[in-house]
Amino acid sequence: MNSSHENDQPAPRVTVIGTGYLGATHAVCMAIMGFDVLGVDVDQRKIDMLSAGKVPFFEPGLPEKLEEALASGRLRFSTDFDEAASFGDVHFVCVGTPQAPDSSAADLRYVDAAFTALATRIDRKALLVGKSTVPIGTAARITTMVQSISPLGAELELAWNPEFLREGFAVQDTLFPDRLVFGVSSDWAEQQLRRVFEPILDLDTPLIVADLATSELVKVAANSFLATKISFINAMAEICEATGADVNHLAKALSLDDRIGGRFLKPGLGFGGGCLPKDIRAFKHRAEELGVGQAVSFLGEVDSINNRRRVRTVDLIRELAGGSLAGVRVAALGAAFKPNSDDVRDAPALDVARLLYLEGAIVSVYDPEANANAHRAYPDLNYVGSMAEAVDKADVVALLTEWSEFRNADPDTLGALVSHRRILDGRHALNANDYTSKGWQYRALGRPAQAATVELASDVRDETPTLAG
Ligand SMILES: NC(=O)c1ccc[n+]([C@@H]2O[C@H](COP(=O)([O-])OP(=O)(O)OC[C@H]3O[C@@H](n4cnc5c(N)ncnc54)[C@H](O)[C@@H]3O)[C@@H](O)[C@H]2O)c1
Repeated sequence: MNSSHENDQPAPRVTVIGTGYLGATHAVCMAIMGFDVLGVDVDQRKIDMLSAGKVPFFEPGLPEKLEEALASGRLRFSTDFDEAASFGDVHFVCVGTPQAPDSSAADLRYVDAAFTALATRIDRKALLVGKSTVPIGTAARITTMVQSISPLGAELELAWNPEFLREGFAVQDTLFPDRLVFGVSSDWAEQQLRRVFEPILDLDTPLIVADLATSELVKVAANSFLATKISFINAMAEICEATGADVNHLAKALSLDDRIGGRFLKPGLGFGGGCLPKDIRAFKHRAEELGVGQAVSFLGEVDSINNRRRVRTVDLIRELAGGSLAGVRVAALGAAFKPNSDDVRDAPALDVARLLYLEGAIVSVYDPEANANAHRAYPDLNYVGSMAEAVDKADVVALLTEWSEFRNADPDTLGALVSHRRILDGRHALNANDYTSKGWQYRALGRPAQAATVELASDVRDETPTLAG
């Protein structure tokens, strides 16, 4: 995939402000597509690592693409905003929008700082493009703000281009997205975006051109829908637990209805990470500010259902341990919020490990990639370097993140290491029969103690990272 830029004008030069999970991937992929790119961050350590060809986080396929992009000479990194302002024609802002420390609103201080830094420095016509996930109305507010502080005034235009990439599939999703959304206020802004996304549009990728507010809403609406689907099946799991029904069979039956589909209908420990939880909370908060809180009040329930799964997981582990967790050795398999990522932001797995520890369990945490981040977040927990070490003499094994290493583990090999063959499958990722036939006590959320597993419908795109292009 290469940008041909066959029209008269030179290809726009691109800056990417904020080089975290989203920005680093975007910067690398823009360079791979043929653009000259400058990645900018306030974190000198990140910039040094990226400049040296090292990705500061785990993302399959990205290290190879970073190397390729640096070797092409089209990608550089810097902490210098003056350089960014003079270099770029199109500036993508990809900084974090975490949950505010004291409310469920989004904390927009990084977004405001990045746009301010650019607007006060840019002295020729350029397009600012927000990619961060923000509350509706932010783009309009920032337009007014940047135009009031920029020497260019209204010449400095702003667009919004929400991002839908999934960690673990970030390169694939950036180069081959399901759709592009451009939120614009002028034809000129649309044309600039069409030029920087030309290689992707050439692949017949669907494009929605909308106003700023709609483009902001698309992102939070998509995340709300996905979170709701996960919490829906987990709510059904709660009903199953009260009735003896089996959510595994229920999910299978529902997923075979084309109108429902199997993706995001997998029961278990629920969602986490740096996006879904904070995005639905910020959306609800913003809707309340706008006087339409009732329209999305269900998102509060979606959040509550999700959080209850963590508590219920601890309940099941306690039951497996015989009623008390004090002094019980638990192997916590997984810390990242999902497989193929080292992101532990709001990670259900780590939350469960922490709750177990607080109840007196002796917890050994192992994650193939996230141990270091988890240790930074919760230094009190004991982290070990392999699955074998984690399960050694365990009274209960808890599968909390469905890495393939855990899914493919051999029940007999594990069984030889543990003190007691008891397993909690927090992700409906294992075949119960494989374990029970080897003498394991197997429990999963929303399933009776004795139940055969049916394989759940899922899309291979949620499971196996593949790279094309
Ligand atoms: N991670 C994802 O999968 C994903 C997917 C879609 C959308 N998003 C959205 O993208 C945004 C970024 O998310 P992320 O996961 O990449 O966060 P992140 O924390 O990994 O990265 C944010 C980066 O911004 C940098 N930064 C902060 N202030 C800055 C400033 N003033 N100037 C320059 N850099 C600055 C930080 O140092 C950090 O490197 C969020 O709004 C998030 O909701 C993330």
